[in-house]
Amino acid sequence: MAKILLTGGAGYIGSHTYLALVEAGFEVVIFDNFSNAKPDVPSRLQDISGDAVHVIQGDVLNRDELAAVFDAHQIDGVVHFAAKKAVGESVEKPLEYIHTNVGGLLNLLSAMDGAGVRRIVFSSSATVYGDTDVQPIPEDHPRTYTSPYAYTKIAGEQILEQLNDDWAVGILRYFNPVGAHQSAMIGEDPSDIPNNLVPYIAKVATGDLEQLAVFGDDYDTPDGTGVRDYIHVEDLANGHVLSIKSLLETGSSHTVNLGTGEGSSVLDVVRAYGEACDQDLNYKIAPRRDGDVAVLTARPTKAKEELGFEATRSLADMCRSSWAWVSGQRRNSK
Ligand code: UFG
Repeated sequence: MAKILLTGGAGYIGSHTYLALVEAGFEVVIFDNFSNAKPDVPSRLQDISGDAVHVIQGDVLNRDELAAVFDAHQIDGVVHFAAKKAVGESVEKPLEYIHTNVGGLLNLLSAMDGAGVRRIVFSSSATVYGDTDVQPIPEDHPRTYTSPYAYTKIAGEQILEQLNDDWAVGILRYFNPVGAHQSAMIGEDPSDIPNNLVPYIAKVATGDLEQLAVFGDDYDTPDGTGVRDYIHVEDLANGHVLSIKSLLETGSSHTVNLGTGEGSSVLDVVRAYGEACDQDLNYKIAPRRDGDVAVLTARPTKAKEELGFEATRSLADMCRSSWAWVSGQRRNSK
């Protein structure tokens, strides 16, 4: 059975992908510096999967630590999550973002090359499309960056596109991943005040935050609030399984959107979450947030044609699973 290295495998999307890969029969090694993951994630993964979890604490900025992983393990392919991901923070710390996201990728590719491992899945983002009226967005839409974070994702894609035919690369452009694992034992767990909509709503639902600010109700959308393509993190995790399988089986590369193709407004999400937690959630309309676009939705057909990927979980499923995770955590911490 093929052995997969997951950099950033203890993070939000990484941990869900770990479970999906194990369920699909892969052997998996997690490599994570735990800068944005809780230390108990591996033991939770072990409880859910029933098997020992192989974790190496290490940093993609440390070449020796990376090389040691490939020396110790016969790795067949890599899924690379380890990166910084907050758009706002990237504006304040552009060098840190470029260093970690681009420098980390280069270190990883060198270590892979040295070990003769040339199959990699790369976490990209719909942010590479910038602000565009073309919706839903096809993969051949031109890339443009609106933040240092977006720049690092475009740079990563471009570096991977320079590799020769010895390599097979899966570039996955995520839309808006939300929700939690069906076990309610892992999920998104921001320690600061969340920037993203669903984690913020979750904290309003638990009473940790008082009120959601809806950033703008004067967009050119059906209810005036921003529209996004929310995708359940378990669907997204399955996209990674299909991607690495395809690289290992065919040896050819792909670049695909991972989304549902469906748009939901901020108020749609507030309503769906309210139903999931059985509360009227407190919100107010606030000014637009800088850098936000009105609508961002995926054209999902290429992922279906090339990988057989299709998101199956609804917005209600996303909100219910998020609430099961968040409310369970809260009960346990009391
Ligand atoms: N929103 C609010 N209030 C909040 C937070 C968000 O109204 O407190 C709104 C936003 O204005 C937007 C929608 O909710 O209309 C979604 O916002 P998120 O912050 O959850 O997500 P974004 O679409 O802004 O950003 C996400 C990822 C980025 C990625 C981007 C583009 O967080 O990493 O999608 O793919 F770059």
